[in-house]
Amino acid sequence: MLDDFFKYQAQTSPHPLAMEISHAKGSYIYDTNNKEYLDFVAGVSACTLGHNHPKVVTAIKSQLDKYMHVMVYGEYIQKPAIELAKLLAKNLPKSLEKTYLTNSGTEAIEGALKLAKRATGRSEIIAANKAYHGNTMGAMSVMGFEERKQAFRPLLPNIKFINFNKELDLKHITSKTACVILETIQGGAGFIVPSNNYLQKVQKRCNEVGALLIFDEIQPGIGRTGKLFGFQHYNCTPDILVTGKGLGGGMPIGAFTASAELMDLLSDNPKLGHITTFGGHPVIAASALATLQEVTAGNLIEQALEKEQLFKKLLVHPLIKDIRGKGLMLAIITPSKTITNTLILKCKDAGLILFWLLFEPKAVRITPPLTISNKEITKGCNIIIKILDDILQEK
Ligand SMILES: Cc1ncc(COP(=O)(O)O)c(C=O)c1O
Repeated sequence: MLDDFFKYQAQTSPHPLAMEISHAKGSYIYDTNNKEYLDFVAGVSACTLGHNHPKVVTAIKSQLDKYMHVMVYGEYIQKPAIELAKLLAKNLPKSLEKTYLTNSGTEAIEGALKLAKRATGRSEIIAANKAYHGNTMGAMSVMGFEERKQAFRPLLPNIKFINFNKELDLKHITSKTACVILETIQGGAGFIVPSNNYLQKVQKRCNEVGALLIFDEIQPGIGRTGKLFGFQHYNCTPDILVTGKGLGGGMPIGAFTASAELMDLLSDNPKLGHITTFGGHPVIAASALATLQEVTAGNLIEQALEKEQLFKKLLVHPLIKDIRGKGLMLAIITPSKTITNTLILKCKDAGLILFWLLFEPKAVRITPPLTISNKEITKGCNIIIKILDDILQEK
């Protein structure tokens, strides 16, 4: 399969990990040599309940037996999508009431940006340096990392960048601004959490000038940070909430949620303001509904904070300079890019999956399934410490 992988499947980088997957269960992924890997990455924050969670699998199978795609998004009444949107609303502040379901996170970002333009009649968008919101043209336009987007210009016009957590920059948000889009916790930048009531201050400024506030919760969302959504830590509420990844329970999804008043603008003048064939797909929605039910019904969310403490207790080493993030969205910062690379690759050989962050070469991603056990956390951290000891000795 290795040759065919490189020959027929388009690649995203010259050096993919190229593990040949056989199956996955719980916190483990197995390759075709039946080697077991403890998964500290969860498909990049996507597999909230681990791999093949029985409730998610049952929900998918039972929906498969009823119907799959029957019509484009929004025309027919399909129970899984409605129940999912309703459960989201039940768990969100009152103003976040109506959800549009998409096929991916980046597509939900497109929808959110369009909604902000449509609602305000303005075109300026403000985003943050080192932000990542996806890879379609609109989402890429609000990515705060020039090196990765230069080759694809021209992108959307009228985008301005501010520095995350820098209060002084808020003056750039004016009555010309349609929206400010921010990750609640910056992912690609190195899991940077908002400090000093930053998000509240952004919200206040947006309210003053009539700009909409969009929070991208595609990564922190669905319980990962110790609240169902990251913004719930920070005493503020966006006008538009974007989710994805972990909402799908291992299936492809995106969603944006807003007030009915805002969201209804997409259906009229012009009608069909945002359309999709497969968004809200019944099988995907059934998987997401089972995932959201499990996360909100049990105590996985509170446990995320306890598990964070366990990681922080175990991951003490001279080569760990910092641990950033919140809950089970953590990043180890090593002294150098080389150490980070060595650690990730040697851990993989030792049966532990770690991964990089997009724009911070010293960071090592730790975003395990929320269902990971304390025993599995201890086992993985022991592997990390052992490899770091080896690296230190070789220096
Ligand atoms: C914060 C954030 N926004 C948007 C996206 C894009 O989501 P997708 O890859 O599903 O299009 C991602 C994916 O990594 C993300 O982390």
